Amino acid sequence: MTVKLAIIYYSSYGTNHQMASIAAEAAKAAGAEVRLLKAPETAPDEVVAGVDAWKAQAEKTADIPDATADDMEWANAYLISAPTRFGIMASQMRAFIDTLGGVWGKGGLANKPVSAMTSAQNMHGGQETTLVSFYTTVMHWGGFVVAPGYTDEVIFKTGGNAYGYSHTQGNEFTDEVKNAIGHQARRLVDVAAKLG
Ligand SMILES: Cc1cc2nc3c(=O)[nH]c(=O)nc-3n(C[C@H](O)[C@H](O)[C@H](O)COP(=O)(O)O)c2cc1C
Repeated sequence: MTVKLAIIYYSSYGTNHQMASIAAEAAKAAGAEVRLLKAPETAPDEVVAGVDAWKAQAEKTADIPDATADDMEWANAYLISAPTRFGIMASQMRAFIDTLGGVWGKGGLANKPVSAMTSAQNMHGGQETTLVSFYTTVMHWGGFVVAPGYTDEVIFKTGGNAYGYSHTQGNEFTDEVKNAIGHQARRLVDVAAKLG
């Protein structure tokens, strides 16, 4: 059985894009068919254009497709990555999720394993609440939360977030960070394969 993994990220400044890209490489190496997709931007063009780093990130990733409900139906596993905004996921990701009523109604989100990652300015700025609140949504889908827990020693070395890898701004993308993201992605692929 082929694992078809949709990795959907939102990123204004590049952090979650980088995390999602690392996860995509790890999942492909683990044998999954991967679609790397972004949640559509909802901020007005003039707002994005008014912030140099935001504009640069949007231009850099213009060729990455926006996620659609069809991608959600296609996949049999989801990895979601989005920044913490006031303690929950960025509204761009929530807006995409809120377009999924139709596919949800057809059972297209159910019985699939889901894992999530986030980033925040501060270590205690809402990294855990962002992930836990997203997993509430997964339960509404009838999905299976595949949090990494403490299933690999690398998690202890990269912040110890049992709910999913979370990146604190200013930290480097060290080999340990890449390993933590890779471990989470590989574990999700492994669980998806076992679910069949
Ligand atoms: C409107 C807004 C709200 C934010 N709220 C928080 C917050 O509650 N806690 C925190 O630590 N960082 C917060 N941040 C910082 C973001 O988490 C940070 O910019 C993000 O992780 C960067 O991810 P990206 O590079 O993928 O866009 C906020 C940023 C913005 C723009």
